[in-house]
Amino acid sequence: MGFKKIKNDELHKSITLLQPSMPFLVTTLNENNSINIAPFSWGTPVSQYPPMMSLALLNKPKKQDSLKNIERMGEFVCNLIDISIAERAIAASYEYRENNKFVILNFAPAHSEKIKTPGITEARAFIECRTKFLKEVGDHILIISEIVAASFNPDYYSGSLLMDLRKTKPLIHLEQYVVKDGQVHVFVDTSCCKALNIPYVER
Ligand SMILES: Cc1cc2nc3c(=O)[nH]c(=O)nc-3n(C[C@H](O)[C@H](O)[C@H](O)COP(=O)(O)O)c2cc1C
Repeated sequence: MGFKKIKNDELHKSITLLQPSMPFLVTTLNENNSINIAPFSWGTPVSQYPPMMSLALLNKPKKQDSLKNIERMGEFVCNLIDISIAERAIAASYEYRENNKFVILNFAPAHSEKIKTPGITEARAFIECRTKFLKEVGDHILIISEIVAASFNPDYYSGSLLMDLRKTKPLIHLEQYVVKDGQVHVFVDTSCCKALNIPYVER
């Protein structure tokens, strides 16, 4: 069967081909110093020396609160999470009237090493970021940040910093769709994952 072409006027849908994603929870400080929390998937490493990562946050038609906080404070924590807090992670993507979702969702702050913004104790690893520059890219703002500190729970990682999939199930988001009374988020269950060894063969 031939490939199915996505029509030119529907190319915005091609982004879905990049799924699944591994969302993390970003904590930032609100203007009143309370903590904001939201899940984001569009983040990736962009440099190793120095260690840097990118994050793309919606700017138009509505600017994410996390983006406003990052623009003002120049810092954020990227909290890496597992599937056990999937429900709270999704709940953190909704808007709350009082802008106090961190408290409503019962997250617990964890002290950061180099920046003022706390992480969450529910994370299995923290990446503390300080922004280097922001660039408007389409409807998002691309945030390029330096990783200024990072820590991880050794119970869930091997010595080489790889996740131990027998001990933790990372949050892997496949899709989201709308139903009559809400949204459904589908996650990948890594307990059925298989390791595949690809030996290097000299040619
Ligand atoms: C799994 C998941 C991944 C998301 N990834 C992103 C993302 O990469 N960028 C973005 O701008 N919004 C993303 N969102 C939407 C934000 O979480 C949502 O707009 C949230 O309300 C932003 O919160 P804030 O206004 O407190 O920053 C994602 C939502 C979910 C559920």
